[in-house]
Amino acid sequence: MSLRTIGAQAQRRHKRADRYSRVHGSVGDDRRCLCQQPSRRVIGLGVDLVEVDRMRTVLERTPTLVDRLFTEYERAYARSANDPTQRLAVRFAAKEAAMKALGVGLGAIGWHDIEVRQSSTGAPELAVSGRAGKLADELGITEWKVSLTHTRTVAEAVVAAL
Ligand SMILES: CC(C)(COP(=O)(O)OP(=O)(O)OC[C@H]1O[C@@H](n2cnc3c(N)ncnc32)[C@H](O)[C@@H]1OP(=O)(O)O)[C@@H](O)C(=O)NCCC(=O)NCCS
Repeated sequence: MSLRTIGAQAQRRHKRADRYSRVHGSVGDDRRCLCQQPSRRVIGLGVDLVEVDRMRTVLERTPTLVDRLFTEYERAYARSANDPTQRLAVRFAAKEAAMKALGVGLGAIGWHDIEVRQSSTGAPELAVSGRAGKLADELGITEWKVSLTHTRTVAEAVVAAL
């Protein structure tokens, strides 16, 4: 590749970076800087996908599971939806994703230890307590990020522990 081509490529990269900067407000060194901040490191990451109808069948077969798996807050929030099972399924996915982020499997922490709450904007947040809270402290986790999505058929959650 000629030096001229490399120069042209670099120019295009700079233009793209400028465009990114105008849209997202930070670029280049700023972004590198953000990644290097120790408080921003990702300690754990988890994702989980749940089939809504599978959750529906399980909860219909064993109705007591609703109380065991979900906190009062989560059940009340789910009841306000047209299809509460979608919201329950995605919250179950969030609990399993949080377990992955903590590096533990089923049984290591209580189902109520991970609670999904809604902020005033509707964005979900994780409240972590009990054995999960203790483990999070041991791992140095100070912040949780969670994102949820669901359709009539599937529910997915992504969780990051920072
Ligand atoms: C956020 C939003 C785009 C999701 O819409 P959607 O594609 O129809 O629905 P999805 O299944 O993908 O996501 C639903 C989940 O998004 C989450 N959510 C809702 N508002 C949110 C927000 N402001 N930011 C992040 N997540 C949000 C909720 O946990 C919701 O699940 P729940 O109903 O079980 O609590 C929609 O709720 C919206 O337009 N909200 C208002 C605008 C807004 O705040 N947008 C910010 C996005 S960055």
